[in-house]
Amino acid sequence: MIVMTTEAKYLKDYQTPDFFIPETELFFNLDDEHTLVRSKLQMKRNGEHTRGLVLDCQVKQVLRVLINGNQTDFNVEQEQLKIDVDLAEFELEIEVTVDPINNTALEGLYKSAGVFCTQCEAESFRRITPYLDRPDVLSVFTVTIFADAELYPHMLSNGNLIDSGLVTEDDDSNKQLRWVKWRDPHPKPSYLFALVAGDFDLLTDTFVTQSGRTVDLELFVDKGNLHLGHHAMASLVKSMAWDEQRYGLEYDLDKYMVVAVDFFNMGAMENKGLNVFNSKYVLADLNTATDIDYHGIEAVIGHEYFHNWTGNRVTCRDWFQLSLKEGLTVFRDQQFSADMGSEVIERISHANVMRTMQFAEDSGPMAHPIRPEKVIEMNNFYTVTVYDKGAEVIRMMHSLLGESGFRAGMDLYFKRHDGNAVTCDDFVSAMADANNKDLTQFQNWYSQAGTPSVVVSEKQTDTALELTLSQSLPTRPAAEQNKPLVIPVKYELLANSDGRSLERGTVIFDKTEQMFTFNCSEPVTLVLFENFSAPVKVQRTLTQEQLIHIVKYASDAFCRWDSMQSLWLQQINGASDTILDKSRQGLIEVIEYVLNNDDIETSIKAELLTIPSYTSIAETFDVINPSHILKVKAEITQQIIESLFETINALVQNLTNIEDGYIQSSVAQRRLKHILLTYLSHSKNSDVERLIRQVYLDSTNMTEKVSALESARVYSVALLDDLLKDMDTQFTDNVLVFDKMTSAVARIPHAEVYGKMALWAEHKLFSDKNPNRVRSLFGAFIMNNPEQFHDESGKGYQFLADFLKKMDKLNPQLASRMISPLLSWQRYEPARKDLMKQQLTQLSKLELSKDLYEKVSSALG
Ligand code: PHE
Ligand code: ZN
Repeated sequence: MIVMTTEAKYLKDYQTPDFFIPETELFFNLDDEHTLVRSKLQMKRNGEHTRGLVLDCQVKQVLRVLINGNQTDFNVEQEQLKIDVDLAEFELEIEVTVDPINNTALEGLYKSAGVFCTQCEAESFRRITPYLDRPDVLSVFTVTIFADAELYPHMLSNGNLIDSGLVTEDDDSNKQLRWVKWRDPHPKPSYLFALVAGDFDLLTDTFVTQSGRTVDLELFVDKGNLHLGHHAMASLVKSMAWDEQRYGLEYDLDKYMVVAVDFFNMGAMENKGLNVFNSKYVLADLNTATDIDYHGIEAVIGHEYFHNWTGNRVTCRDWFQLSLKEGLTVFRDQQFSADMGSEVIERISHANVMRTMQFAEDSGPMAHPIRPEKVIEMNNFYTVTVYDKGAEVIRMMHSLLGESGFRAGMDLYFKRHDGNAVTCDDFVSAMADANNKDLTQFQNWYSQAGTPSVVVSEKQTDTALELTLSQSLPTRPAAEQNKPLVIPVKYELLANSDGRSLERGTVIFDKTEQMFTFNCSEPVTLVLFENFSAPVKVQRTLTQEQLIHIVKYASDAFCRWDSMQSLWLQQINGASDTILDKSRQGLIEVIEYVLNNDDIETSIKAELLTIPSYTSIAETFDVINPSHILKVKAEITQQIIESLFETINALVQNLTNIEDGYIQSSVAQRRLKHILLTYLSHSKNSDVERLIRQVYLDSTNMTEKVSALESARVYSVALLDDLLKDMDTQFTDNVLVFDKMTSAVARIPHAEVYGKMALWAEHKLFSDKNPNRVRSLFGAFIMNNPEQFHDESGKGYQFLADFLKKMDKLNPQLASRMISPLLSWQRYEPARKDLMKQQLTQLSKLELSKDLYEKVSSALG
């Protein structure tokens, strides 16, 4: 029995390691329940101290420990292996066993669907072998794998394959074992170690780097899935070319391997030279993948590839610095996606992530700065704050320094720190030094949690517009006063008379309160935070007229979209007994204007017409009342569809015969069609049923099929059932399509959803051990079914708590991710607040994993 420690670790307690490990040699004898792992470590004392050796250790059993070849005493307690030793340099050998087949947590070495696979980030290498499992201990790894030659024709680890052979097992079986030996010449921390063994189909390609070296690209997929790997491979080639062009960064090994596995907790993992991917972010073809899937694959392939420099070559000193690699790499993958597709569409989608998930996290009990200061379970800090707000912070530096200044900072960062484990401060210093700029105040973004609120007031005189901005953060403990942040504000002045652009620029807002004066001799409308130039909440009262002016004339399409969203929010926030018919009419008119305006690019038009999600609306309330939000939102949608049915219907009819394929123009048309269909699905007109069926049947791509499912779900459950039945027979055994089906089921906005979910959980393709299956069914219910999840009976909350109780035993990391909607309980109106708290209290009485314990205790704290 492993004793769990729930003690927190603090950034302020960081100390350098007691030992270094210049060389690591590993030997694996792969076996389902008893994999034998032997390590041979060259240990080197760091400095003059006399402390013994303490290794992180969470293996099943430690068999033997040898120092310089002599067996030695050891002691395992509290997830640590302690060895008394006073030598300055020595060779340490350790033999342990691990149990891959029963590893449902999917951390360390696990076997699933016949494949052995590892996941070590952040602190799971210690589940494979005792080690100094921390990112500031870098080692050169040599790895030998022994396994059944027939079952595991592919045996992979990081770096280069340097040797291989056959041995006959010395038991009676006479079975042939094959062994392979890999060596990765680049010193790396243990979290970047990987091992995979299985039987795959292999897709290959090559990439010639800017310096003329040829790199072998290898993509491993389940047998029979080769035809689904081409988009991922093409994305990899694009990523490699892009990083050379934009950052001058070249790949540094002769081989780049990507393995797609079916059981994976996250999206993917950047192990050096051997990425392991959730198959969802690899496999795609027109028949089974949506445009969103294609986009996601390109982005995640890019993300993991970009980690080779931002994460692997330069890594983190400690896990509090996670945003050093993640914030920066997300920023880089966002730039990549924008370059491959559309900058503004990317920006809208990232702003949505920030305003829904990140703002919610930042106002809840688990709020933390992008560089956290206190952690119980590191897995809990792979968050939208560290990743996405982290990327926004990097983006603001980019805005402050400009493209060439930012690039100079990156160049200096690599020049100074290549091969090292460093801190966020080191990154900011490189940016500052390369540009001769003082970024001291900017660094407050790294240490202060919470979403900044910016209050806007403006006064127009005959000659000028006076803008006053004030900023504040949620209050912190008295000892830690919040300091003002550096906020880049991109703006534009539009003439009220004809919408002419009078001035565009950026002001730097870095005081608690600050006034900016813009000279102008005619009445103007000010557009603020173009392109979502800072991750802040803006408190500003604009009239409907002003918002419409921005929708029509702003140069920045992001702000045009944002103003459309605000027009909806106005209706919902302001709706009381006295709904102003006139202003409702105003919203309908601007929607009609957008629908009929042929000058608006299709992709932008789709965004302008998108109905704000429940979550993005909820996040704008101080006290959330789901019933109110859902009711008013439904009312408005109803009114729109009553007024504009004919217009919308006609436009949908025009969007037929869209060319298949992941081509930007087709993606945009399918997106617009989907948005229009969503409006129509709120009508009870029987033509709509026919239309949805037709879209489903006529489509030769998964995007439109899923769009039809989504509309059917809103229109009627009977129609949804019908389409699902057909899909289930057409796509038997395709788990990724199955996930799309269960997500639609889980979002049925009526109480029958419970029965349906139970039914689909019985399907032969469902397994509660597979994170993708679980997220698609139950995750969709929790996150995207506000009608039922937030039903006033509290049934949804109870369902989640019961689910978490079971899931925590199987896969704590997954359970912990899925508790998030309960954590914000204090944001809700009294009745729901109470119901949510009851469930948290129930959970707190159970024996929980570290992961859930940290969240539940902070939520009730
Ligand atoms: N480092 C991975 C990424 O962002 C995410 C990850 C974290 C995967 C922890 C698995 C475990 O690319
Ligand atoms: Zn990452």
